[in-house]
Amino acid sequence: MDLRGRHIISIADFSRDEILHILRTAAVMESGGAGEPLAGRLMATLFFEPSTRTRLSFEAAMLKLGGRVMGFSDPGSSSAKKGESLADTIRMIERYADVMVMRHPRDGAARLAAEVSRVPVINGGDGSNQHPTQTFLDLYTISRLFPQLVSGEGLTVAFAGDLRYGRTVHSLISALCHFGGRILTVAPRGLELPVQYIAEANHHGITVEAVPSLNDAIAACDVLYMTRLQEERFPDPLEFDHIKASYRVNAEMLTAAKPHMRILHPLPRVNEIAADVDATAHAHYFTQAANGIPVRQAILGLVLGAVR
Ligand code: CP
Repeated sequence: MDLRGRHIISIADFSRDEILHILRTAAVMESGGAGEPLAGRLMATLFFEPSTRTRLSFEAAMLKLGGRVMGFSDPGSSSAKKGESLADTIRMIERYADVMVMRHPRDGAARLAAEVSRVPVINGGDGSNQHPTQTFLDLYTISRLFPQLVSGEGLTVAFAGDLRYGRTVHSLISALCHFGGRILTVAPRGLELPVQYIAEANHHGITVEAVPSLNDAIAACDVLYMTRLQEERFPDPLEFDHIKASYRVNAEMLTAAKPHMRILHPLPRVNEIAADVDATAHAHYFTQAANGIPVRQAILGLVLGAVR
């Protein structure tokens, strides 16, 4: 399968076969079988918003494959600060690098960059819209835990937290449409999953059920996908303090979980997963984040045509 030259902007741009090909390639990368096929290639990182995992795991992936990296992590140090348009920034970077990874606060910024760029643009998160490479690593993680994801037997995945603005949630729900199963949601009032994602899931035969509490979700799911409650979205700080207490998982609550249930979180966590969860068999979020390296190696190798 040839993904050479492809932009990675939205999960919706990828077929089930293409997703599975990326996951299979990631497994090859994880086994260390790829060598250094990107020697002599250069990746630019354009991060207009903060990041730890996405930027650094892309850099690690490129370096492991023999390539080199350059970029900025603070837009204040780029000429965007002087008023340069995003389109002009992209027109320059495409002349310097073979591939670029961009995170931007505006929904649709990655699509705009792809329309301008002749080299592959990889969306590292655009506003509250999409975070497709996070989704590939989420799917990779889930499929290694639960091979029945791919065989179509279906899993129950519960999403908790800020489902309105959480781009990792939106991307993953779109991807799960290829794999069947059941989705549960639990979110504070005003931060529920937007109806368009419920409609998309229903269109693919997946039920989306809002459950009353985190405890209900924990008892029923195979995968609990936690997300950060974004304090900045709450108009009333008192309301935030009240709600955050009901969106915190601790080890005691997990006694009601199925033994095989695993907790994922795109990270960073703030206070929604208590530290005592880390030592339980349910905690899987650090392994999930580590999977970002082989998955991003696969993406870079494929879009640069170095692996097929
Ligand atoms: N999951 C994720 O996107 O993490 P960062 O914000 O640290 O890149």
